[in-house]
Amino acid sequence: MQNLRVLTGITTSGTPHLGNYVGAIRPSVRASRPAGVQSFYFLADYHALVKVGDPVRVQRSTLEIAATWLACGLDPQHVTFYRQSDIAEIPELTWLLSCVTGKGLLNRAHAYKAALDKNNAAGDDPDQGVSVGLFMYPVLMAADILLFNAQQVPVGRDQVQHIEMARDIAVSFNHLYGEHFLLPAAAVEAHVATLPGLDGRKMSKSYDNTIPLFAPREQLRKLILSIVTDSRAPGEPKDTEGSAPFQIYQAFASAPESAALAQAYADGISWGEVKQALFERIERELAPLREVYDELMQEPAHIERVLRDGAEKARASATPFCARLRQAVGLRALERAAPAAPGGKAARLARPAFKQYRQSDGLFYFKLLDAQGRLLLQSAGFATPQAAAAAIAHLQGRGSAALAEMPALQPQPGQSQALASALQELSKAGGHKRFA
Ligand code: TRP
Repeated sequence: MQNLRVLTGITTSGTPHLGNYVGAIRPSVRASRPAGVQSFYFLADYHALVKVGDPVRVQRSTLEIAATWLACGLDPQHVTFYRQSDIAEIPELTWLLSCVTGKGLLNRAHAYKAALDKNNAAGDDPDQGVSVGLFMYPVLMAADILLFNAQQVPVGRDQVQHIEMARDIAVSFNHLYGEHFLLPAAAVEAHVATLPGLDGRKMSKSYDNTIPLFAPREQLRKLILSIVTDSRAPGEPKDTEGSAPFQIYQAFASAPESAALAQAYADGISWGEVKQALFERIERELAPLREVYDELMQEPAHIERVLRDGAEKARASATPFCARLRQAVGLRALERAAPAAPGGKAARLARPAFKQYRQSDGLFYFKLLDAQGRLLLQSAGFATPQAAAAAIAHLQGRGSAALAEMPALQPQPGQSQALASALQELSKAGGHKRFA
């Protein structure tokens, strides 16, 4: 069985902060380690251009984020770590996908809708400041994912809609051109801590309340001292509930350490002491990583090499896959064009067909489509391809009569007549179409 393919992108639009570390970087680096998982992590610099028009910032952020992930233990030998803009197949696939993506689907994207709503609320032209890049963002993201046939995509909640759109786009493409894409699923970490920022709201660049992950030691201390607290005096018992320094502490400390600090709160520890404890606890984890980070930042040529090697690894599968997709849509060398003849591909397609495929849940499915590609019958998941094939063989052998015996099959409502005739046609012809 093939490894589970996990893929995620990091937009290169800013400097990583503690919230990114706790919420994304640390868990992702851990998740990339087990055997049996094939991880693809990339720097989404094309996506950054949607938000950032400052070339220096895009370059700087790319360097900082790459150095951060490497310093935090991402192993480029084990993980395919690359820069989106080094893979020319990504924008190429974006176009192929654009042509099977309904404009209406993109109209529903949250980020795009939010921009329109904001303009409407301000009484501006709805399209004011809205680039086509923003509108196309979900298609570019679908290309990132589908080009590598990733099954699992770890993202924050705000990105779940984009993964659902990638699925929809994959389904449209598969429907038109055959089963080329696995359908990806979002993996949202259920209990990932969101850290409060300096002002107690969620730590986020857009609130300007962040603590940069690799701020120099003294700056880190100063920032931690500036975290908001209530005005309780030393000696007064304090609430851990809703206390920003406590929440941040918990994200770094063990359970007994957090329990000890909670006790200190109850015993009236001063805010100054709380913040000193927080600083020391964070520093204990980050100081060794910061040392590596600072070294890497002095060696941009080394990072450039790591990313180029990663891109080469990524393109080893992306290039042939993209070539196959070009073939599928008809971007083909002319001398190899085969006229559609009876018994050729076109003739075969103009008949009902079973299609077998594998979903991101690891199970094997099939469906029956009529000659026009309409869905007649959908199977449930089978544990093995052999089991799915056996079910198909049974259907072909017994026709409609087999349906009653096989509760795992779901005929499409209102299609029983079409289904019966399709099965009859297939039982004569044995036209079983199979996809890898
Ligand atoms: N849009 C994602 C974010 O802002 C980053 C991203 C780009 C991504 N391409 C991706 C994430 C593909 C997962 C898969 O967080």
